[in-house]
Amino acid sequence: MKLLVIGSGGREHAIAWKLAQSAKVTQVYVAPGNGGTAHEPKVQNLDLSEHAALADFAKHEGIRFTVVGPEAPLAAGIVDYFQARKLAIFGPTRAAAQLESSKDFAKQFMTRMGIPTAAYQSFSDPEEAHRYVDAQGAPIVVKADGLAAGKGVVVAQSLEEAHQAIDWMLKDQSFGQAGARVVIEDFLVGEEASFIAMVDGEHVLALASSQDHKRLGDGDIGPNTGGMGAYSPAPIVTPDVHAFVMREVMNKAVRGMAAEGQRYFGFLYAGLMIDPKKGVRVLEFNCRLGDPETQPLMVRLRSDLVDLIEAALAGKLNQTEAHWDRRHAVGVVLASKGYPQAPRLGDPIRGLSNKGAAFSLGQAKRLDSSADHGRFVFHAGTEHQGGELLSSGGRVLCVVGMGDSVKLAQQHAYESMAQIGLEGGQYRKDIAWRARRSNGTGL
Ligand code: AMP
Ligand code: GLY
Repeated sequence: MKLLVIGSGGREHAIAWKLAQSAKVTQVYVAPGNGGTAHEPKVQNLDLSEHAALADFAKHEGIRFTVVGPEAPLAAGIVDYFQARKLAIFGPTRAAAQLESSKDFAKQFMTRMGIPTAAYQSFSDPEEAHRYVDAQGAPIVVKADGLAAGKGVVVAQSLEEAHQAIDWMLKDQSFGQAGARVVIEDFLVGEEASFIAMVDGEHVLALASSQDHKRLGDGDIGPNTGGMGAYSPAPIVTPDVHAFVMREVMNKAVRGMAAEGQRYFGFLYAGLMIDPKKGVRVLEFNCRLGDPETQPLMVRLRSDLVDLIEAALAGKLNQTEAHWDRRHAVGVVLASKGYPQAPRLGDPIRGLSNKGAAFSLGQAKRLDSSADHGRFVFHAGTEHQGGELLSSGGRVLCVVGMGDSVKLAQQHAYESMAQIGLEGGQYRKDIAWRARRSNGTGL
């Protein structure tokens, strides 16, 4: 069986690596892929990006199904295009992907369905937006309506910041069409978690819980990033929280989309804010897996991902279970110097071999003699040039460690990270700190 994965990040390396583990799979193509997928066993990069060229390739090669990693091709309608050509693809249509590509659409939808979320209003007129913010007070959150590569959210601590954000988005049109409308919503407090599920139009199969670290600096300070690390499971997602989110968020969303004529297929990611006093509220929906959440999730997934996606494509997720390694997984992102504002690219990366995610750390393998040494490297912004591995993006790679405790998983990840060299490279030293704090023992 041949499969196709669209994307080039750490998430896509992890998806491709996991799909390639399946005994049914002979080849996984990744378009365009990165320096890690270039050397992953059973995986091959494909230098194509146009929907028509990808669909031609899928048809010609007899690709069993395609998995879409990032949001941009979904919002551009790649699923509609493949479906029109009778090609199996796992992801939402362009209309359904509005749950991510339009925050105004998502907020209106949540309000109609009674899905818990922050109170809000949407504006395209800057004067009305300024008046609303003055009436509401700070802190308050200003969000560009459209896709803005994670940069379209301003959590304004003061009225001044909120007014600036409105002008920046609506008047200066810093995000073009994506910022022609803004959503202004109440500031929520609590702890964030990522709740990600597979959806087959009707049924919801939740993946294991996870938590991302969006800020650049230790202790969750500094600028927002695409994500500096993630771990799974996330203890804040207790069985009660899980049950609540399945009932009040996931099932309502999937039934609501179907009732409104937009059946939802694909991964569905609810970004949650969990406050022990005020309960659970949805910050956003994403129509895809998270990056870097996918990296720890894929190493914990024991089930065959091919079987899960085939069940979803057949509308049979209700007859399917996903099995998870009970160990903890902690993923730490190595980012380029200058990330996120002005990442420096083209620096050599040292300490990695070319044998794919599971074996990339030749030395780490020797440190630990057990067969499953629980250390993985998923590449993101890397490329091979003249026999060297060079950085080619802001987030360069993600090292994942597994362990019986959060502490051990962390230790494995950081031991591995210490063997990798990238000049000016930056990574957080405290990934999974909330999980260690919440289990009370520091383990
Ligand atoms: P979003 O892309 O909507 O998830 O927002 C990005 C980040 O901004 C989130 O991960 C939160 O850290 C923060 N954020 C978004 N909305 C709110 C809110 N209503 N209250 C507090 N923080 C928020
Ligand atoms: N890790 C956050 C995201 O993928 O949106």
